[in-house]
Amino acid sequence: MQSTSARSLWAVPATDLDQIVNLCKRRGFVYPSAEIYGGFRSSYDYGPLGSLMLRNVREAWVRTMVQQRDDVVLIDAAILGPPAVFEASGHLANFSDPLVDCTKCKQRFREDHLTEPDTCPNCGATGSFTESRAFNLMFKTQAGPVEGSGTEVYMRPETAQGMFVNFVNVLQTSRKKPPFGIAQVGKSFRNEITPGNFIFRTREFEQMECEFFVPPADSAQWYEYWCNARFNWYVDLGIPADMLRLRPHDADELSHYSAGTSDVEFMYPWGWGELEGIAQRTDFDLKQHAQHSGQKLDFFDQATNERYVPYVIEPAGGVNRAMAAFLLAAYDEDIVNDEPRQVLRLHPRLAPYKVAVLPLSKKDTLTPLAKQVYATLADRYMVDYDETQAIGKRYRRQDEIGTPLCVTVDFDSLDDGAVTIRERDTTAQVRVPIADLEVEIRARVGF
Ligand code: GAP
Repeated sequence: MQSTSARSLWAVPATDLDQIVNLCKRRGFVYPSAEIYGGFRSSYDYGPLGSLMLRNVREAWVRTMVQQRDDVVLIDAAILGPPAVFEASGHLANFSDPLVDCTKCKQRFREDHLTEPDTCPNCGATGSFTESRAFNLMFKTQAGPVEGSGTEVYMRPETAQGMFVNFVNVLQTSRKKPPFGIAQVGKSFRNEITPGNFIFRTREFEQMECEFFVPPADSAQWYEYWCNARFNWYVDLGIPADMLRLRPHDADELSHYSAGTSDVEFMYPWGWGELEGIAQRTDFDLKQHAQHSGQKLDFFDQATNERYVPYVIEPAGGVNRAMAAFLLAAYDEDIVNDEPRQVLRLHPRLAPYKVAVLPLSKKDTLTPLAKQVYATLADRYMVDYDETQAIGKRYRRQDEIGTPLCVTVDFDSLDDGAVTIRERDTTAQVRVPIADLEVEIRARVGF
């Protein structure tokens, strides 16, 4: 069941960010962090449904990038790192934003985000900006028990460096050879000057990155391959292709390590914006780490008798940002039985629950059979069980949280051994024998 198949029902042309923020709070996807203390700016906690959905995004990525290929392996590297790693990577010298302060209102701005370079967007003063200063985006802390005397350590600003510093370890233990990739999913931290737009840009976030090592002569071809593969991943998981585009960076946008980058962009409510970047990192990182560590980070090709430093193509996405895009693309409003309904047309792989089991009544007579159906399905899928409120209201709740299928157990089920499957997207209902339920659900969910 593809969520795109129901797109003809779409009633709203563009989803408002507030609709998603409200739904996320109301239904337990995303809460403002430390809310009982007034909140902690631009930090979010993921609730019961949001944490399931994040996990589904991660798992969908690992499935495509690692499980379904024999040329990519997964690692899980440390978040804290010594300065040497980030000296070599260039992050200590280059990973900064240009900042200016308004001397009138004391607000701070990213110089490259100002629409009028001489006018303060907050107080309107002109000529009030200080000289621009570079502000490093990495979080620094101390390791060790005594404050002030510990070793300086950094929280990684990207997962990528974990792959480069482990290049030789992985090469030796996995017996891979270029072209091959090292993938990782994990948290990264950046002291962003302008966090915002909900979970789009936060200071703590999760990345899903792959460093794909190739013979230098093949790098252009692999770059094109990964741009297309990553674009299609989002389409396959239900984002309509017309809400996505691939945009090559201009030369002045490129990161310090990049010889060419394209972004997969998504049409957010505020306009086109980055969803994922695919970069040609050349041999920059391996050479830098080889030089700074004094270790050989290259590959000896026995077939050609040649030693070379591989080039790297890097598809780098964000788990939280992808979740935002999937939610925005899936949100829909339509009319069912003359009543408006809100529905998340999420791809079944991303939906927090694949199935909800709904006994028609709370009566004891129905509970044992409903629980039995629940237990059978829960062995395979994340399943919700809900026996409160009228059945219509329960269907609406499941529609709103994106559950593709509901299974209703009613009093007839006790006699005929059958239950009703109801589909989220079409609201169509079909009666199936409980004996066939697992097969019927698998056919509809798609896995
Ligand atoms: N290793 C390359 C790299 O980190 P990036 O474009 O800075 O490249 C990759 O980050 C992806 O990580 C972005 O496309 C985005 O999805 C996610 N990301 C980056 N900064 C983020 C932030 N502050 N909040 C949420 N996601 C972020």
